[in-house]
Amino acid sequence: MAKKVVCVVGLGYVGLPLALLCAEKGFRVKGLDSDRKKVALIARGKSPIKDKELERKVKKLRRKISASASAKDALQDSDIIVVCVPTPAKGSKPDLRPLKAACMSIAKHFPAGKKPLLVIESTVYPGTVRHVVKPIIEGKKLEAGKDFFLAHCPERIDPGNRKWQLKNIPRVFAALTPKGKARGLAFYKKILNAKVICLANLEEAEAVKVVENTFRDINIAFVNELAKSFEMMGIDLSEVLKGASSKPFGFMPFWPGPGVGGHCISQDPYYLIARAQESGFTHRFLQLAREINNSMPKHVVSLIMKSLRSAGIKPKKAKVVVLGLSYKPDVDDSRESPAIKVIELLRRRGVNPVSHDPFLLKMSNAKSFAKAVKNADCVVVATHHSQFIKRLTPAFLKRNKVRAVIDARNVLDKDGIIKKEILYFGIGR
Ligand SMILES: NC(=O)c1ccc[n+]([C@@H]2O[C@H](COP(=O)([O-])OP(=O)(O)OC[C@H]3O[C@@H](n4cnc5c(N)ncnc54)[C@H](O)[C@@H]3O)[C@@H](O)[C@H]2O)c1
Repeated sequence: MAKKVVCVVGLGYVGLPLALLCAEKGFRVKGLDSDRKKVALIARGKSPIKDKELERKVKKLRRKISASASAKDALQDSDIIVVCVPTPAKGSKPDLRPLKAACMSIAKHFPAGKKPLLVIESTVYPGTVRHVVKPIIEGKKLEAGKDFFLAHCPERIDPGNRKWQLKNIPRVFAALTPKGKARGLAFYKKILNAKVICLANLEEAEAVKVVENTFRDINIAFVNELAKSFEMMGIDLSEVLKGASSKPFGFMPFWPGPGVGGHCISQDPYYLIARAQESGFTHRFLQLAREINNSMPKHVVSLIMKSLRSAGIKPKKAKVVVLGLSYKPDVDDSRESPAIKVIELLRRRGVNPVSHDPFLLKMSNAKSFAKAVKNADCVVVATHHSQFIKRLTPAFLKRNKVRAVIDARNVLDKDGIIKKEILYFGIGR
């Protein structure tokens, strides 16, 4: 029997691992991406994402995935089309342009004879698949449920997480019609080693994803607000949260930091807020959470200024070093990263910081960690890459004549650093 053909549209943090998994599971895989550089790299067996596991797999499976920037070539013969394009926010408004553009390409080069299954994995607000995707694909010629089968299965991948990976994270799924449900469930059963929970309709599945990420945003905003108030009360919030975590029920810890970044948690609440607003409901709580999290880079800058004042150093003459540019540790994704916002705010105050991130060397103005840290007036841990935590010991900081440390991720040895007579400021400590 001929192998089924899967076309993955969008080969980024979500689409590339999916394409690789489908190839491992015996599908013929075609990848469509509008970024020609990405396509060329994948075709050469090189991962466009800096991640050891992805790098290994792209090399190994290069002959099993044909990546292309041509929608015509990629969509031809596809039995299953999975859309994994970005769904960012522009300001605080959902920006569906990449999704609409992808749907238009699919509609234009539709593999009509195949009656394909079309799954949207991108995160969207409730109603997008039915009211935005479906009419674009149908156009004047096609009918969902007859010429193609429409489904939504929001992706939950957590890049860099070695325990919870694409194949073992349980998923929610919904389809427009029973046949779409049967075909979609068969597909995900074949590639995943996890439960797939079927919801009654597309809108519920869409809502699950935005609710999950909004839940995180709100809880992080709660501890970020506590951090600011506990700093004024002189109570170490990290210790409080560790204490509260000893309760075996009814409490789960979230940790304060320099703000919320990435393509998901910092964006998805806007999708829910906007969709509810359209129906006449204003999410005050969700908006406030966004505001609090967005205010954290400014808080980090105020701590930097405070440390320089305490050390008697003029900000414009100070060597301020921002370590980590990605939005979370051990990944190369800088989208919406609070570190970048900290740098922008510092520049507005006339400070030209040194920046270093081993995962994002092209964006770093210091290529060497050692040179960046040496003789720094203030070292800011904006992102806690594992190698930073290992290297930034109190002895190392002292040896390198560092005057102050802003531990924006609360990961360093606070007492040890203070003992070495280096100024220490954490978030909420
Ligand atoms: N990054 C994550 O951790 C994560 C986790 C779960 C869900 N999601 C969701 O998955 C979706 C994809 O996110 P991502 O992080 O993989 O984005 P990404 O930017 O890493 O990848 C998307 C890819 O789509 C390509 N693209 C954009 N428009 C296109 C078009 N019209 N046709 C073909 N290709 C196009 C881009 O060039 C890019 O390579 C988003 O909806 C996001 O919210 C992301």
